[in-house]
Amino acid sequence: MATKKIAKRTVAVRAAKGTTARRAAAPKVAPAKGKLGVMVVGMGAVATTMIAGVEAVRRGLAKPIGSLTQMGTIRLGKRTENTSPLIKDFVPLADLNDIVFTGWDIFDDNVYEAAAHAEVLKPEILKKLKPYLETIKPMPAVFDSYYVKRLHGTHVKKGKNKMDLAQQVIADIRAFKKKVDRVVMIWCGSTEIFMEPAEVHQSLAAFEKGLEKSDIAIAPSQIYAYAALKEGVPFANGAPNLTVDLPVMIDLSKKNAAPICGKDFKTGQTFMKTVLAPAFKARMIGVKGWFSTNILGNRDGEVLDEPQSFKTKEESKLGSLEYIFQPEMYPDLYSDIYHKIRINYYPPRGDEKEAWDNIDIFGWLGYPMQLKVNFLCRDSILAAPIALDLVLFLDLAKRAPSLRSIGIQEWLSFYLKSPQTAPGLYPEHDLFIQSMKLKNTLRHIMGADLITHLGLEYYD
Ligand SMILES: NC(=O)c1ccc[n+]([C@@H]2O[C@H](COP(=O)([O-])OP(=O)(O)OC[C@H]3O[C@@H](n4cnc5c(N)ncnc54)[C@H](O)[C@@H]3O)[C@@H](O)[C@H]2O)c1
Repeated sequence: MATKKIAKRTVAVRAAKGTTARRAAAPKVAPAKGKLGVMVVGMGAVATTMIAGVEAVRRGLAKPIGSLTQMGTIRLGKRTENTSPLIKDFVPLADLNDIVFTGWDIFDDNVYEAAAHAEVLKPEILKKLKPYLETIKPMPAVFDSYYVKRLHGTHVKKGKNKMDLAQQVIADIRAFKKKVDRVVMIWCGSTEIFMEPAEVHQSLAAFEKGLEKSDIAIAPSQIYAYAALKEGVPFANGAPNLTVDLPVMIDLSKKNAAPICGKDFKTGQTFMKTVLAPAFKARMIGVKGWFSTNILGNRDGEVLDEPQSFKTKEESKLGSLEYIFQPEMYPDLYSDIYHKIRINYYPPRGDEKEAWDNIDIFGWLGYPMQLKVNFLCRDSILAAPIALDLVLFLDLAKRAPSLRSIGIQEWLSFYLKSPQTAPGLYPEHDLFIQSMKLKNTLRHIMGADLITHLGLEYYD
């Protein structure tokens, strides 16, 4: 059975390489040779669930459910060609066996201890992975509790100013680069307080001056991002912090061919919102109100219980509906929506978040209806495959001539609650548009025909 499946897949890939699905020569994507080093900032629930999960998959103990890079397929050419290879067979992604993890945290627990503390994965599976997980120990972090008020870490770097701290992170990156062939960084750290871009973020010169002066507008996440981008290391931002959503970082990213993407993993409630809202809009169903509430009891929940970190998250969660509904174009349907978001810290639930949405909608002649969504999810189980896909795709982007120097990788919006876009461009939140954009980008970099779904050729 298994042999048959593999044989079928090989034929599909071969067919894809030689048929109508191929466009004029695209610049070649470099192969994923050697080891991919993944530097994770913040080794909490999401990070440890990703790392343990990758190891479990490598050992054949579990399947990478939820990961598009590992399980997804991509159609090539016409529907009649029946050519849909696995994405990982179509684009040259790093193999899971070639990933090497390291990272930073403000607590010195190794990844086994941190995963046990997070209580996402069951002790049975963690025990099997213990010898490996114990070998990954976080490096001391760049941290200041001014930016994450609920945490007080002990495992932190000391330096005479923020530039000194950035140099220490650069030294960490350089040391790691000696052990692996390529490096990617991902922020899985806590949500920082709400901040807005300041003067210091407008240029590299201003930012470096700000680092020397330890400017208060420069948060720890920006110090890691600066260090990564200076070193040509791609950076993904899994939290709603500004981090790489700043002119200085976008410039550095382009200049040093270090792709970036952010912000905030799109996991539970917003994932559902960006499925349901496009459906209402597609059918011209009106919306009067959308009330979203959550209870969760993990450390993330504790951090988000603090008003300034909550505001950062709230902004990130609020944006999606506004952009999807385009009230200025559909005033009769969406100009008067009451959108409310609540996150309540409730320790008994741990990582097993519960989200409720009450949606007040209206149809033909304005008749009201309601929809209730109750999502009993597991936060980090949803986030871990997203984090994995982001590092694998950013590594691919770095090797793709048409992507490596464009800065923001908007095609990765699929994974993000508050997608970064080119300045002045509104973000695309609709999950299905995002999915199409992602797959067309993969076709594009591999020189395959884009798929428009027009389909008139079948009726000629
Ligand atoms: N779990 C999800 O579904 C989800 C979804 C979207 C976004 N996020 C975001 O991802 C991030 C991680 O979530 P989590 O559930 O793993 O949280 P967590 O609290 O379990 O882990 C965060 C870790 O980051 C560490 N940390 C904080 N500041 C740091 C710094 N400056 N340097 C190094 N380490 C630092 C903390 O000590 C902690 O171990 C949060 O910002 C969260 O809002 C999570």
